Amino acid sequence: MDERMVSSEFQFDDITIEQSVRPQSFDSYIGQEVVKRNLSIFIEAAKLRSETLDHVLLYGPPGLGKTTLATIISKELEVNIKHSSGPAIERAGDLAAILSSLEPGDVLFIDEIHRLPRAVEEILYSAMEDFCIDVVIGKGPSARNVRVDLPPFTLVGATTRAGLLSAPLRDRFGVLSRLEYYSLEELSMIVKRSAKVFEIDVDDKAANEISRRSRGTPRIANRLLKRVRDFVQVQGKTIITFNDAKNAMELLQVDPLGLDQIDHKIILNMIDSFRGGPVGIETISATVGEEVQTIEEVYEPYLIQIGFIQRTPRGRMLTPLAYKHFNREVPIK
Ligand SMILES: Nc1ncnc2c1ncn2[C@@H]1O[C@H](COP(=O)(O)OP(=O)(O)OP(=O)(O)O)[C@@H](O)[C@H]1O
Ligand SMILES: [Mg+2]
Repeated sequence: MDERMVSSEFQFDDITIEQSVRPQSFDSYIGQEVVKRNLSIFIEAAKLRSETLDHVLLYGPPGLGKTTLATIISKELEVNIKHSSGPAIERAGDLAAILSSLEPGDVLFIDEIHRLPRAVEEILYSAMEDFCIDVVIGKGPSARNVRVDLPPFTLVGATTRAGLLSAPLRDRFGVLSRLEYYSLEELSMIVKRSAKVFEIDVDDKAANEISRRSRGTPRIANRLLKRVRDFVQVQGKTIITFNDAKNAMELLQVDPLGLDQIDHKIILNMIDSFRGGPVGIETISATVGEEVQTIEEVYEPYLIQIGFIQRTPRGRMLTPLAYKHFNREVPIK
């Protein structure tokens, strides 16, 4: 499948980008001021009391910095971090093995925690609450329950779908932090910082232009910067200017608001075939040729965020802003 330039979801190419530019401390982690301030206070207090930090749930759209933040938390606590993910922990035994390998105070990071199997989740309850688990030893009539004590640890869970988390699991987190889309200024700072790592200069207007097209998302900003750098370097230049950024994005078919061909198709279809709606998500999905779930999770949130689409009980509707972006007349109904 062709990978979307402006997808906020992780792509194979991002591995090398993210390894090199991922911030390693609160100081280099730009934005998310409320989350950062709260977490640093809780971390400092836990360290003062020589206690483990309360369990932390990080939630928000893809690419906003949840994994990065989990790593920073462990660094600030000066403990080790173990990475795992909901779908990777298939059995209760897998979880027991991970938990008993932790050192006291360690961070266990579980990504996509909403995808933990039910049976595993239930084991996690007592692990989170009392730092112990019950394991069954033996089979049949001779099977017995044994309580195993665990080292105290901090669970950092991450999810893009907080609504899918069960209430008992959610309630066991002491700290719930929601990550927000980044402002233009914050994204510009991220672009400039990453440019240093990528060893290219970027002027203010260029950084702003890349940020404007990044859908509020650092992952996309870094990816776009890397592509623009390619365009500039093949021309033998060492600085990215506004025109370079603009021209490169046009070649990449990323428009001034960060919309790509599929966003365009969704909106133009709604204008031309449905007079701007209301139209059902299934119908949009059929006419555009993308799955309903993909439209709901990947395309639509940003179109709603910038005020182009509204959700109504009768379906999706375009706003006058969307018409304006495409230089079209709003139909009189
Ligand atoms: N606050 C920030 N400051 C600077 N760079 C950031 C920040 N947040 C994220 N990034 C950059 O964006 C990249 C993506 O962030 P990260 O992998 O932490 O996102 P995520 O929320 O875990 O995404 P996913 O939901 O897909 O797992 C990071 O590698 C980092 O380079
Ligand atoms: Mg992540």
